Amino acid sequence: MARHVAASVADLPPGSRLLVEIAGRPVALFNVDGEIFAILNRCPHAGGSLVHGYLTGRLTSPCPGDYDYSARRELIRCPWHAWEFDLRTGQSWCEPERVKTRRYEVSVAEAADLAEDRLVAETYPVSLEGTYIVVEM
Ligand code: FES
Repeated sequence: MARHVAASVADLPPGSRLLVEIAGRPVALFNVDGEIFAILNRCPHAGGSLVHGYLTGRLTSPCPGDYDYSARRELIRCPWHAWEFDLRTGQSWCEPERVKTRRYEVSVAEAADLAEDRLVAETYPVSLEGTYIVVEM
């Protein structure tokens, strides 16, 4: 599994989202209350752009008349036909066993820790300062 520097942490403040391309794939990054998620920016239903979706909390109900709403917005609703996916697992909210979108492991690394890790573009040396979001795929 390769690690890719996706963006600077400064480019993705809490509550924001960012579309990047990693190894030829469109990847949607989300910062939900300081936690960063990465998913393939292609809805498995018909290819909608998930980065343009609506983030929402999850509503659960153990029995009729009793429900719980989690305000932590970790479900992305596709803008085309409203299918919803869990940013943490990639699973569909309606059919989690059958339908999912690709999700990627994300970490945050200091520039000094990435110096030996894929930060050389062809034959040109690259230097970084600050903190970066790293996606594994
Ligand atoms: S393309 Fe996403 S729900 Fe249809």
